[in-house]
Amino acid sequence: MDNRQTVGEIMITEEEIRARAAEIGLQIDKDYAGESVLLVGILRGAVPWMVDVMKSISLDVEIDFMACSSYGAATKSSGVVKINKDLDSDVVGKNVIIVEDIVDSGTTLAYLKKYFANRGTKSVRICCMLDKPEGRKVDIEADYVGFVVKDLFIVGYGLDANQKYRQLPYISYLK
Ligand code: IMP
Ligand code: MG
Repeated sequence: MDNRQTVGEIMITEEEIRARAAEIGLQIDKDYAGESVLLVGILRGAVPWMVDVMKSISLDVEIDFMACSSYGAATKSSGVVKINKDLDSDVVGKNVIIVEDIVDSGTTLAYLKKYFANRGTKSVRICCMLDKPEGRKVDIEADYVGFVVKDLFIVGYGLDANQKYRQLPYISYLK
């Protein structure tokens, strides 16, 4: 595949992403010492990052996945998010960590955080690979952030442009 026309230079390498995931895994071990966690990956972009993070956690870990999409731009500010695939797990009494590829406007995560909080979870935190603070429209911060990025259209390591480039083993952007 020739990505040279559209994909920019490497912004974050696979080694850097894995090292950061390992640091976050250690932090999660400390923060939840003596407990267990349920990692909820948001399909599809969070998959590679979630794999890295989960391998770095020594606590008991369960994993599950959800798929969601926000409605069109006009309704974004209202925070309406559609759940296309719900969890299979019971979340009551669990320490849920939502694992996301990138926080941009914050709409998706603000909705999901409330959604979980209303389902009897013990705690809800957010772990994202990338944070794009310039895009924020909703006041929400992730608890565990891999890297802060500029307001570019990011691709690679799970992130797509029309379903392409998810498989790139690094973070880059569209030119
Ligand atoms: P939010 O609700 O605006 O925070 O939306 C976050 C979602 O939008 C992410 O899970 C991605 O699927 C997508 N997204 C946001 N920024 C980018 C980007 O730069 N590249 C690819 N997808 C993005
Ligand atoms: Mg996504």
